[in-house]
Amino acid sequence: MLEVRNLDASYGEVPVLSQVHLEVPEGAVVSVVGTNGAGKTTLMKTILGVETQSAGEILYRGENIARWPTDRRVEAGIVMVPEGRRLFAGMTVRENLEMGCYTPRARKHRKESLERVFTLLPKLKERERQPAGSLSGGEQQMVALGRALMARPTLLLLDEPTLGLAPIMVRWVFEFIRELKEQGLTILLVEQNAATALRLSDRGYILTGGRVAAEGSGEDLLHRPDLRQVYMGL
Ligand SMILES: Nc1ncnc2c1ncn2[C@@H]1O[C@H](COP(=O)(O)OP(=O)(O)O)[C@@H](O)[C@H]1O
Ligand SMILES: [Mg+2]
Repeated sequence: MLEVRNLDASYGEVPVLSQVHLEVPEGAVVSVVGTNGAGKTTLMKTILGVETQSAGEILYRGENIARWPTDRRVEAGIVMVPEGRRLFAGMTVRENLEMGCYTPRARKHRKESLERVFTLLPKLKERERQPAGSLSGGEQQMVALGRALMARPTLLLLDEPTLGLAPIMVRWVFEFIRELKEQGLTILLVEQNAATALRLSDRGYILTGGRVAAEGSGEDLLHRPDLRQVYMGL
């Protein structure tokens, strides 16, 4: 579904990614793991086409989208749940969810998507009229995930979805990712909990200093002795 080739990315004059390659097959969960500052968020932003300048190819369903504006990528089904969730704290849960439907395609399916999100995340139905800022961290992450689903993704980019959450909510997020995969969604995941992420991933990439340092099946990477200590704290 997604194939990145020879990708360089920078913020103005500051280079971050260098010759990155990556493949996300349809229906797979693929993880990108790496220490702080490795370029994981930059990779996701570049796939979505926000903030960075890039060179190289980003093939999505066989088309090079590297020069497409962001809204066209979202309309084509690439949707990101950003690091830190970025909700509108003063707006209600429902209003936040509806913010996810900003492309014409998503707007057309608004009612149906909202029903689906409330079925998948019943807690949000209970909290529908509350300001998002009054929710717990875990519930806010549910809103961020729900908002992304409102955009009707084909490829979902999840940037550190468990960051700052209580252990029980961390487990919930991973279960939810599994559930989305079972429903046929393709997922690119960036995670601090590298071992857990790789365990549920079909494929993984280790990013170091903006380059791919290792890649393989989730299981292979999990068992590489050279990677276990540095990236997985095992
Ligand atoms: N908006 C920005 N402008 C300039 N440099 C940035 C910006 N965002 C991130 N960087 C730099 O890019 C590098 C990679 O950052 P990032 O992609 O956020 O890493 P990660 O998500 O792996 O922690 C870091 O050196 C960071 O300081
Ligand atoms: Mg990051």
